[in-house]
Amino acid sequence: MRRNDWTPNLIYGELPLFEAIAQAIADDIADGKLHAGDHLPTQRALAKKIGMDVTTIARGYTEAARLGLVEARVGSGTFVKVNSTSSQPAAQRADLADRSMNQPPDVQDPELLSRMRASVTSVAELLPQVLRYLPTGGVDRDKAAGADWLSRRSIMTDHHTLHVTAGAHAAVSAVLSTLLIHGGSIACESVTYPGIRGIAKNIGKSLHGLPTDSDGVLPSALEDAAVKHHVRVLYQNPTLRNPTTETVPLNRRIEIVEVARKHGIMIVEDDAYGVLPVNPPPALAMLAPELTFYVASLAKSLGPALRLAYLLTPKAVEPTEVSESLRAVSVMASPLTTAIATRWIETGLADAILASIRSETRSRRKQLTDAIDSSEITTAEFCFHAWVKVPPSLGRQRVMDLMRGYSLATVASDPFCFGIKPPEALRLCLGGPGTLDQTRLAIDALASVFSHC
Ligand SMILES: Cc1ncc(COP(=O)(O)O)c(C=O)c1O
Repeated sequence: MRRNDWTPNLIYGELPLFEAIAQAIADDIADGKLHAGDHLPTQRALAKKIGMDVTTIARGYTEAARLGLVEARVGSGTFVKVNSTSSQPAAQRADLADRSMNQPPDVQDPELLSRMRASVTSVAELLPQVLRYLPTGGVDRDKAAGADWLSRRSIMTDHHTLHVTAGAHAAVSAVLSTLLIHGGSIACESVTYPGIRGIAKNIGKSLHGLPTDSDGVLPSALEDAAVKHHVRVLYQNPTLRNPTTETVPLNRRIEIVEVARKHGIMIVEDDAYGVLPVNPPPALAMLAPELTFYVASLAKSLGPALRLAYLLTPKAVEPTEVSESLRAVSVMASPLTTAIATRWIETGLADAILASIRSETRSRRKQLTDAIDSSEITTAEFCFHAWVKVPPSLGRQRVMDLMRGYSLATVASDPFCFGIKPPEALRLCLGGPGTLDQTRLAIDALASVFSHC
């Protein structure tokens, strides 16, 4: 039925307009106001009726099509899909992504998605076991899957030193509070992952940003801080650093480890992006296993909502010391999502997801580097974030304002900076819910912002 009377109920003030249009379609299907086969107004007619530009309506319809709500028929228009379900949970949740976080591109390949869904369904067979408490740090089968996953980073481990934790934040938090129980402070790079600030604050410890170059922390600065600030722990995110995308090369890793050994500094290696590059330098945990607490989150390689990270502790550390702290922080990793991760790793699906993230990241990065002059952006292969220098005449806040509503999440340099004045720069996330086409639109918009200054 032709629905020229239909108008979207745009009550989602926080959402970009095109997403609000898709959301309105989802809601109206759920409420029975739109039915399978309904012919939506033309983009032009709707734009005129509600006073928006045609591009926004087109993007809204495209987003609704991506969510499986409508289909575009060449020459005829846009129709509510015959098999669009009334509840549309995917649509209702799609817009809730926290865009301040760096996330991998959503899996888009329908075949891979259906394998993932089937695998999640098969985990449902484990109900009710997966709704029970499990020992903090995990059980053998999940630890074996974790050890298997870490072997992709050439890290060999055993069940004694491997802990299954509720994400990198929980693991880092538990490790830092264990290591700093008798005092001391934390050092980090002057530009690094902002999550460490909140963790340090939460456990009441001070954090010192150290002078850093493109290879990472300057070893001489670490040496000074060890003496001046009683640094007991060095926080490192050395592979595809967030936000700068750089990777600390092997020689700098060796120098850092030497200073840490000399001053009895323990290292927390947050290797959130460690499995993305094909040939990364060895982990600090391999160069100094006796000093390093290694944290491998699955957030960037399989999906943030699994809330899962494998933590490897040095052999000399009594595992119960860390598990007590892990227990205080989060009791355990969710057995339900752990069971999903274990199944994905055991069946090879995890490798397929990782391959899909790499391939999508490669395409998006190419779009970015093709569109914007390389002197303004730092990117790395298989890295789904980018660090962008903003022309001072424009300023980072203005660029962020201009990019609002596009599917390219921008975060200003401010929260990433520790002990230095934030530069005119921002971090772009090429991942998240958008499609390749939406990312291209956003990149074109960014390129045009840059070309006008
Ligand atoms: C370096 C780094 N560590 C940790 C995280 C968060 O990991 P998780 O979701 O497992 O807590 C992020 C997310 O952006 C990150 O960039």
